[in-house]
Amino acid sequence: MARVLIAYSTTDGHTREICDRLREVIERQGDQVTLVPVAEVAYADLESSDKIVVGASIRYGKHSPLVVEFMERNAPVLNRKPSAFFSVSVVARKPEKNQPHTNPYVRKLLRKIAWRPREVGVFAGKIDYPRYGDLDRMIIRGIMWLTGGPTDPKVVVDFTDWRQVEAFGSLIARM
Ligand SMILES: Cc1cc2nc3c(=O)[nH]c(=O)nc-3n(C[C@H](O)[C@H](O)[C@H](O)COP(=O)(O)O)c2cc1C
Repeated sequence: MARVLIAYSTTDGHTREICDRLREVIERQGDQVTLVPVAEVAYADLESSDKIVVGASIRYGKHSPLVVEFMERNAPVLNRKPSAFFSVSVVARKPEKNQPHTNPYVRKLLRKIAWRPREVGVFAGKIDYPRYGDLDRMIIRGIMWLTGGPTDPKVVVDFTDWRQVEAFGSLIARM
């Protein structure tokens, strides 16, 4: 039984939901999973894990600086173990931007850091207008209008392909 650490960064909770689904899939296949926000991961947690997964969402064009700093600081230990990364964004709802080599945020991040995750996942996220503050709602609606997405301020749309998330969980269980 391998010990799997999933370190995550989320603003509205969707990346955490993806982590929960990954945990279900991975534990069903026999590994033991611990979920920890990136900001709370200690170096000892990384050392004592057999596999490490990092998941983070995009906000205004970027993964959280905390996540990037975590990856840069811990690249040596991350590179020593079977590891995976996944990124969550609404741009990934577009078929031409849903692969590690076609998603602009993932490409940019992987160019910048020394960590080379064995598996990389790109997941479409969620739009939850009622949850957003006025300014964020207005800006996201504007971006959606420009990119052909939903603009009704009352809607919640989950673009995540949960079967893709489950397949990624199985990949992690097999790493
Ligand atoms: C304020 C805000 C800014 C966002 N900026 C982007 C963006 O620049 N590009 C993108 O593809 N998605 C963007 N998104 C969509 C999020 O990545 C998506 O909602 C994701 O599911 C959020 O995950 P989280 O709840 O784990 O933070 C943004 C969402 C919000 C609320």
